Amino acid sequence: MAAIEETETPPESQAPEVFRYYELAKKQEWQVRDMPWGELPPIPETTGAKERVEKRRGIWRSVITQQLQADSLAVEMAAQLLEMARHQEAKLYYSTMAQDEARHVEAWLRLIGEAGGPTERDPYLDKLAQIFLGLDSLEEKVFLMQVFFERMIIPRFRLIARSAPDTVLADLCKRLTIDDGIHHSSGMAYERVLLRSASKETKARMIKGASRMLPIFVDHVLWRPKERDFITSAMRTADLARVREEVEDGIKIASSLGLDVTDIEYHIPAA
Ligand SMILES: [Fe+2]
Ligand SMILES: [Fe+2]
Repeated sequence: MAAIEETETPPESQAPEVFRYYELAKKQEWQVRDMPWGELPPIPETTGAKERVEKRRGIWRSVITQQLQADSLAVEMAAQLLEMARHQEAKLYYSTMAQDEARHVEAWLRLIGEAGGPTERDPYLDKLAQIFLGLDSLEEKVFLMQVFFERMIIPRFRLIARSAPDTVLADLCKRLTIDDGIHHSSGMAYERVLLRSASKETKARMIKGASRMLPIFVDHVLWRPKERDFITSAMRTADLARVREEVEDGIKIASSLGLDVTDIEYHIPAA
């Protein structure tokens, strides 16, 4: 049972710090029709032999497929958060986040159509989503999805935008950097509200959930579809350094929320 002495703040109390993000999200809202369709190429254009062109195109299609998969899963997760949130302000906020994630899917779907169709799914991303969707408590869902995952995905959008200048893909990644920045920050704000009245047991479950998720997150970061498999060995050292940094940052953030992170276990393979 949850420790009684730690549940003094009634969960019905208000969360004005989350309402701020509702207002911010409304102000930042955009539409798929605002994107530069037809003005810019969907993905970087390549010239040369047909085989080379197809290979390059396959790389971009695989990049888009992974993000489409991630955002489709995010729609389900945002819907769960909307349903489970215990504060009126948080429900309002999550109604915007669910719309954001659905809009992201709409944009990726149009983009993958223009780029030539989807490639294979990342099996680790599906596994991660199953963990998120199966978590019991709101505290754990906000923690793993918004505090950890939303944040870890942001540098990836910056990287894609830089690698695909002057394309619809780059335009979309810039929009997502802003949206997911809000998703992460609002999650931090709501998690702080929730932790005010969370039991020791709930906090311990959050740490256990993070330990369960991290090895799969590492697999997800290191995984590449066959279109990009040829760069895997060349990038291995850089990938490992990046994933280590991302995991360590995530743990620092958890600790800044006042959680005891000493029990978080994770293993990053040697190069
Ligand atoms: Fe998204
Ligand atoms: Fe998001």
